[in-house]
Amino acid sequence: MKTYLRILSYGKEYSGLVPLYFLFVVLSVVFGLLNFGLLIPLLNIIFGSIQDENLLKYQVQPEFNFSIETVKGNFYYFFNSFLKDPNQGKLGALKYVCAIIIASVFFANVFRYLAERILTRIRAGSIRNIRKAIFDNVSQLHLGFFTNEKKGDIMARLTSDVQELEYTVSATLSGMLKDPISIIGYFIFLFYMSAELTFFCLIYFPISSLILAQIVKSLKKQAIDGQNAISNIMSMLDETLSGIKIVNAFNARGYVTDKFDYLNNRYSEVYRSMQNKRDLASPVSEFLGVTLVTGLLLYGGMLVLNKESSLTGVQFIAYIILIVQTLIPVKSMSSSYSTIQRGLVAGERIFELTDAETLIKDSPNAIEIKDFTNQIEFVNVGFAYKGKQVLHDINLKIEKGRTIALVGPSGGGKSTLADLLPRFYDVQEGDIRIDSLSLKECTLHSLRNKMGIVGQEAILFNDTIFNNIAFGKIDASLQDVEAAAKIANAHDFIVQTENGYQTVIGERGSRLSGGQRQRLSIARAVLRNPEILILDEATSALDNESEKLVQEALNKLMKGRTSLVIAHRLTTIQQADEIVVIDKGRIVEQGPHDFLLAKDGLYKKLWGLAEF
Ligand SMILES: Nc1ncnc2c1ncn2[C@@H]1O[C@H](COP(=O)(O)OP(=O)(O)O)[C@@H](O)[C@H]1O
Ligand SMILES: [Mg+2]
Repeated sequence: MKTYLRILSYGKEYSGLVPLYFLFVVLSVVFGLLNFGLLIPLLNIIFGSIQDENLLKYQVQPEFNFSIETVKGNFYYFFNSFLKDPNQGKLGALKYVCAIIIASVFFANVFRYLAERILTRIRAGSIRNIRKAIFDNVSQLHLGFFTNEKKGDIMARLTSDVQELEYTVSATLSGMLKDPISIIGYFIFLFYMSAELTFFCLIYFPISSLILAQIVKSLKKQAIDGQNAISNIMSMLDETLSGIKIVNAFNARGYVTDKFDYLNNRYSEVYRSMQNKRDLASPVSEFLGVTLVTGLLLYGGMLVLNKESSLTGVQFIAYIILIVQTLIPVKSMSSSYSTIQRGLVAGERIFELTDAETLIKDSPNAIEIKDFTNQIEFVNVGFAYKGKQVLHDINLKIEKGRTIALVGPSGGGKSTLADLLPRFYDVQEGDIRIDSLSLKECTLHSLRNKMGIVGQEAILFNDTIFNNIAFGKIDASLQDVEAAAKIANAHDFIVQTENGYQTVIGERGSRLSGGQRQRLSIARAVLRNPEILILDEATSALDNESEKLVQEALNKLMKGRTSLVIAHRLTTIQQADEIVVIDKGRIVEQGPHDFLLAKDGLYKKLWGLAEF
């Protein structure tokens, strides 16, 4: 129930529309009923049995008040005048009835359409709000969340689960308002026509509802399996599409398609079984409905034949037709409830995302870092990924304006150490301080504002070159961006692209070479003009030619800044003020290049392996 109310709360801003929806539904039901009421005189004329008591009763136009009687009285008054008019007669009365039927069908449908429009508006708005809530929350979550959760799973929740909710919102309005109103309206009319027959129906309805409820209940568990299965498919799709080059290169298509077939078949099985149950609801309720109608035919027919009922034969037929009509909203209500059940499952999966809390956020009295004046200091820092200790007892000072290089065997923990600075992860032991202020006491925004990061893979977006460089810096002018691109050795190739700075570079920058992409991400860092630079193997993915260009750009970028540089090629960091050798999560050696070479330790060994 709580989940359900939460789902509805996303449409709160539209709650003002609900009364209007209610009104339109009532009006469409009223006009719809009028139609069925008109069947009686229509059939009377056609079957020639116009000795109906109503004809005798309404010889004068009745007084107006809000009741079925007034409507009926007025109708029969005019009906009678047509019949009595020698120029019109039965045919005239028939035309009269048909004209009213057309008018009332018209209004019934206009109001139904207006009601649907409101429904759509509420549904579209609620879904927009839900998507926004998911995106807003997910985009601010800590990095660790995304290594634990599969990306495809998040995508599935954003698409197929949200879609389920969309059905739920409309099922709620139709299942809770429209169908009940229709059913109540029909029943009032049915009672008015024949109380005893309607009592007979009323016993029958709860019994059939109970049977249907049983089917709906068993749907819920399967809905969970179904949504999980679709998540797996999305994850797999995401991985395959982003790695399609490798899939082709390694001739791994067979492997991937097998894996996909497995997942796809699994979903198909769950889906089939779920859909079978869902589909069962309709034939079952139809069968129950027809049973009801047959029972009525038998019971009511007996009454009519024995003249025990006030109904005429024609009225009895109209009554039966109306009962059949009543079954439509009853059926729709039962399918609404099964839709809502599925929506609850989807809702729970979605709220896991909107409720996920970021582990890294500003403390309540976080301080804005104004100036970075002195140094960054790691004090006895220890860090573990999910219980796997990666850094041990790190003590390191990075003084302002100096370049510190991290080197060591891969897997040693260099990247992890660098990720701690912008607080992608928080330290678990010890502390990192910037000018003696613990990182945890600073606002994330001011901390990250001080830093520029260039990683191994340039992270670019399917947008223009200009927007990729300006990225998030809304006030950047073309001059600023160009200046940054020049420093990053990127200007020359940018002006040679089709539209210069307005060229769209494709998903993840796929229309550029590796070196070009990297120079764009350097230009982005230059534009930010950060005081602290973090370069994590920024040239390792490049060929010699572009490495030279990029390295040159990096050297310009580093000038006058505080830098933490992770390099795979030791020649590039020879000049660093201090080289820190990290092995298995510990600092094993530390000092300038010459000092470390003289020491004859791990650095010397790595240097010996290096290619020149
Ligand atoms: N997101 C992660 N989750 C779990 N373990 C990780 C994660 N990232 C890195 N590791 C592990 O942490 C260790 C250090 O990795 P890393 O800092 O990337 O080393 P380096 O940059 O020196 O090559 C490795 O053993 C790696 O397997
Ligand atoms: Mg690394």
